[in-house]
Amino acid sequence: MQNLTIKPAKAIRGEITVPGDKSISHRSIMFGSIARGTTTVRGFLRGEDNLATLNAFRAMGIGIEDDGEILRIEGKGLHGLSEPEDVLDCGNSGTSMRLITGLLAGQRFFSVLTGDRYLRRRPMTRVIEPLSRMGGCIFGRAGGDRAPLAVVGSRLTGIVHESGVASAQVKSAILLAGLYASGETEVREPHLSRDHSERMLRHFGADIHCFGGGVRVRGGRELEGRDIMVPGDISSAAFFLVAATIVPGSELLIRGVGVNPTRTGILDILGRMGADIQLLNPGDASGEPVADLLVRSARLKGIEIGGELVPRAIDEFPVICVAASLAEGNTVIRDARELRVKETDRIAAMAENLRKAGVELVETDDGMEITGRETLLRSFTDSRGDHRIAMSMLVAGLAADGPGEVSDVECIATSFPDFSCLLERVSLH
Ligand code: S3P
Repeated sequence: MQNLTIKPAKAIRGEITVPGDKSISHRSIMFGSIARGTTTVRGFLRGEDNLATLNAFRAMGIGIEDDGEILRIEGKGLHGLSEPEDVLDCGNSGTSMRLITGLLAGQRFFSVLTGDRYLRRRPMTRVIEPLSRMGGCIFGRAGGDRAPLAVVGSRLTGIVHESGVASAQVKSAILLAGLYASGETEVREPHLSRDHSERMLRHFGADIHCFGGGVRVRGGRELEGRDIMVPGDISSAAFFLVAATIVPGSELLIRGVGVNPTRTGILDILGRMGADIQLLNPGDASGEPVADLLVRSARLKGIEIGGELVPRAIDEFPVICVAASLAEGNTVIRDARELRVKETDRIAAMAENLRKAGVELVETDDGMEITGRETLLRSFTDSRGDHRIAMSMLVAGLAADGPGEVSDVECIATSFPDFSCLLERVSLH
């Protein structure tokens, strides 16, 4: 296990791009593989999670070439996947496991999925229950809730699924199964979760229709290979947005970031806290909005966060907690119980690590209340093997009163392999 020392910064300055969006990169492989003909992907994120998806589709007979710049996927159509000879290993990636399970439910072959010790602890009933109602035949540990999962490909029938949680992984797993199901498949969710699947399915020519509160897909229609440009990941940009906000005297330009409205909760939250972030040069990348983000340091104030903002910023809460720790007054986070079933329990992990940095906070079942302070104390962070906890606490370390340390930083490679180099490049000490 590798630890990393982080030194306080005097300012964050410069111009950067962040790696491609993780969610869009996963979907480009999945949809490209089951489309007819060639799909090219520019800006693909070569993090461990996405490489797990890529390897899974190679193991199902799909030719995928990578020249280091462009990925070429030779799609074989809806029924072109072949039975994998071995277990598909999704590593740390919940998106790989849940979406691929949806896709495999309607195949004509048998498959088994597993993941690392963190992923094998995460709940799978949320996808297995609706997929079973469609006619899927999926087995797992713990009464069917935990991986490894065994999928016996079956004939599927469309359903209407009323999801209890706003989850793009649940929605996308069902939509992928819906491509193979007879009739229509509909998913409704309490708040709109990220809609990359809907946008990309439309881009590939699927018979898909979005309406207030839900989405419907008709099965059986072939997808056609497309060219995809993946924008920078706003979830990766978020660490730099917070870093440049909390370190006085900072100014940072982040180019080409995806600003899909289902992902921009972080901009709304930081904006309400008093951050200085401008959106410049708006454009479009394969049906996804993009922009450059210019951020300057600002004094933040505490706010209340809940409701529809939560799914729009779900992966950013660890770093939002860091921002709240340095804001004036209290920040209340609620409706965020989902954070307890991410790569780790992110409420408990952030509460423990911020307390060690001197922050006063109250942990609740679905969030926390944080009392901001002037600076953080140098501390030792236990990342718990979670990439976003590690990166968030490295950002916190920039605003501490001395050098701190973060444990087990290898996990950062799941989503942002060059994070620490890039952070060092823009930090003035
Ligand atoms: C993702 C959806 C979210 C998010 C995850 C990626 C996706 O998970 O936390 O990092 O690509 O669909 P949930 O659907 O479980 O909220």
